[in-house]
Amino acid sequence: MTTKININGDIQDEAFISILDHGFLFGDSIYEVVCTNQGKPCFLEEHLKRLYASASGISLKIPHSPAEIKKQIKITLDSAENQESYIRIIITRGVGEVDIDPSSCFNPNIIIFVKEIPQISCESYEKGISVALVSIKRNSRDSLNPAVKTGNYLNNVLARIEARKKGAEDAIMVNSMGQLTEGTTSNLFFVKEGQLLTPIKECGILSGITREKIIKLANKNSIKLEEGKWPSEELFKAEEIFLSGTVKKILPVTLLDGRPVGKGIPGPISHKLMQLYSELLESLV
Ligand code: PDD
Repeated sequence: MTTKININGDIQDEAFISILDHGFLFGDSIYEVVCTNQGKPCFLEEHLKRLYASASGISLKIPHSPAEIKKQIKITLDSAENQESYIRIIITRGVGEVDIDPSSCFNPNIIIFVKEIPQISCESYEKGISVALVSIKRNSRDSLNPAVKTGNYLNNVLARIEARKKGAEDAIMVNSMGQLTEGTTSNLFFVKEGQLLTPIKECGILSGITREKIIKLANKNSIKLEEGKWPSEELFKAEEIFLSGTVKKILPVTLLDGRPVGKGIPGPISHKLMQLYSELLESLV
C-alpha cells in the first residue's frame, strides 16, 4: 500500500510544490481522477480526452502529448505496486508572480499522484447514503463552467460543508435557475414513475465518464432514460436516487433531506445498473 508522486517525471514518496504555483495561489489548475481496474487505468482514453479539453477550457497548454502522460502514469503505477490504485493527474499553471495574470507562468507542473483507492463501505452500497439539497448553487456555465474539471472546487467544498451541517453525507446542488445539477464529486440520477432521469449537460454539470457509461448501458438494456431539466421538487418524488463517479461507481441514495427515498432502500433500477456496470468493468480485462 504505497503512495507515489510523480512531479514532472520525478517519482517520489513525498512531494512539495512552490507556494508561488498558481494552482496553489488561485486554484488555477485542472485535474482528472482515474481508478485502475485489475491493475490497468480504467477508461483512460476518455479521462485524457477530458483532461485536454479542461486544459483548453482554461487556456492552458499541456506541454506533453497524451502518449507521454500515459507513459508517466504507467511508470508511477509500476513504482507504487498497489493491487488497485487511485490516480490523480494534476496540471497546474506553474510558478509565477503573485498576480492572477497567468502570463508570468511559463512551466505547468504535471503531477501524477498514485495511492490506494479510498474504500467506500459495503454498507453504503447496500443501504444507500444520505444527501441534502443545499442552498449553495452550482457554478453557472458562464462563470466557472462545471464541464471544465478545474482544481477550483470551492463551490463543491461549500456545498459539502452545508450538507454535513444538515447531517447528510453529500450534497445535491441546483443551478441559478433552480434546476437539479449534480453532487459535489458525482453525477445525479433518479427514477420517477419507473423512468431513469438525469440532468442534461446544459444544466451545468461535469460530463462524467461514469455517467456516459451508465447512459449507454441503460440504452443497450432497454432501461428508459431521459436527460432533461428538473426543479429540485422533482427529486422528492423520486422512487430511487443514485450518484455516479469514478471512485463511487454507482452509489445509491436512500435519504434526501432526512426523508426516505422511495421505500428507503436501494431500488431495482439502481441494482440493475450496479450489476451492469460491474459486468462492464469485468468485461474490460
Ligand atoms: N469527481 N461531477 C463532479 C463535480 C465530479 O467531481 C465528478 C468526479 C463527477 C463524476 O465524473 P466521473 O464519472 O468522470 O468520475 C461529476 C472525481 C472522481 C473526483 O473529483 O474525485
